[in-house]
Amino acid sequence: MTEPQDCRYLLTAHNDSLAQTTVRPRFFVRTYGCQMNDRDSEKMTALLSRLGYDAAEGQDDADFILYNTCCVRESAEDKVFGHLSRLKRAKADKPGLMIGVCGCMTQQPDIAQKFQEKHPYVNLVFGTSNRHRLPEFLWRAIQTGKPVIDITESDELPEIEDIPVTTRDFPHKAGVNIMYGCDNFCAYCIVPYVRGRERSRPPEDILREAESLADDGVKEVMLLGQNVNSYGGGVAFPELLRQVNAISGLERIRFMTSHPKDFSDELILAIRDLPKVCKHVHLPLQSGSTRVLADMNRMYSQEDYLALAARLQAAIPGIAITTDIIVGYPGETEEDFLATLDVARQIRFAGAFTFIYSKRSGTPAAEREDTVPRKEISERFDRLTATLYPIMEEINRTKIGKVIDVMVEDSQSAKGRADDHTLVHFTACKELKPGDIVPVRINEAKTFYISGDAIAPHPSSRNFSRARECESA
Ligand code: 5AD
Ligand code: SF4
Repeated sequence: MTEPQDCRYLLTAHNDSLAQTTVRPRFFVRTYGCQMNDRDSEKMTALLSRLGYDAAEGQDDADFILYNTCCVRESAEDKVFGHLSRLKRAKADKPGLMIGVCGCMTQQPDIAQKFQEKHPYVNLVFGTSNRHRLPEFLWRAIQTGKPVIDITESDELPEIEDIPVTTRDFPHKAGVNIMYGCDNFCAYCIVPYVRGRERSRPPEDILREAESLADDGVKEVMLLGQNVNSYGGGVAFPELLRQVNAISGLERIRFMTSHPKDFSDELILAIRDLPKVCKHVHLPLQSGSTRVLADMNRMYSQEDYLALAARLQAAIPGIAITTDIIVGYPGETEEDFLATLDVARQIRFAGAFTFIYSKRSGTPAAEREDTVPRKEISERFDRLTATLYPIMEEINRTKIGKVIDVMVEDSQSAKGRADDHTLVHFTACKELKPGDIVPVRINEAKTFYISGDAIAPHPSSRNFSRARECESA
């Protein structure tokens, strides 16, 4: 069978299967999970566009629907299966419709069998490291009429990296993968099993990608990896930050995620000294109890975490620290949970993702029988948010009356992000576009955002003290 060296064959084949030969088939990609998946989806979207597919408005007018999945928690997986069941009906109405599933969920053991038995109408199932072969899989599925299931385990760097991304989710910001996989094996986490061993991209490749994004109008890059602090591409992570900081056109640099065990003093200095590196660190705590942290294999204690946060706050006044916290890890006692609340009060997180522990089969934690009763977990969850949220609002209230530089994210709904990642809603007297940086005088603070009025910068200066109020501009 000839493979689609020339993409016209694929388009013709798909159009034939749809019994319409004049319009180009349309695709719809739905992404679940983290920023890594967002970036992968952008790349697969670019592949499909290069093949000649057009973007559909939504799922209903698509001829190829691709779900890029997440399996970190069971709820994410349930969502995918729920959506898939609905597609089964859509497929009955539109026989030429192709359905694909890729991403972390498909890398789990026995998943191929699950799809064959329970979801045989899914045409392609592929993994995280062979997503660059999407055109070939699509071609084979259309030509043979049989499902293509190809989940190769690979610890190589994905070849998809060099695909120029023609369509990005945002014009002004983009993620750049600096590494893949994870070697940490936190006892609850499935990521090391589905994403493989840690491997870093060479700095030259990262810089080339960041430069081409900057040339394309991107103002903010987010360097992505499960644990960016252990970046090992030949230079240390603070040096990589320095090199990205030198790229002209870029205005902001963010990175995610940091593991507390690898956070060096050099990195603190790099955040402090490099003007484009945002004053925000996402530093997952997971638990405030040293005993639970040891059970989780996190490789730091409560004291280590507190000391690191104190070093960050002392070196970089005003730095925003955000976090991830898991409630109800097996064996978590009331005393352990109180330690988490205690850390939350001491650090004063600017934001937090709070998760209920989800059992992931194949992980060491899944073997434990000392699970916390459901009712207790949900009660602790509520107490945790009741501790975190008022602090977040208090932090936001300290910004009232200040003028804060905001990078416009969405001009229609007039919202953007401060350097420290705070969400800012604003009113503006002139049209602004995504990526513009505008000073905003803050007049209101809520738990999850602050709001205010954009003020026009003085024409000869970007200095706030010389800014004029919008009305008088
Ligand atoms: N259950 C609940 N939360 C989890 N996370 C990872 N694995 C699990 C799990 N099994 C959370 C962690 C991690 C974030 C991305 O997801 O807090 O930092
Ligand atoms: Fe999962 Fe831990 Fe790796 Fe994060 S560092 S991806 S929580 S194993």
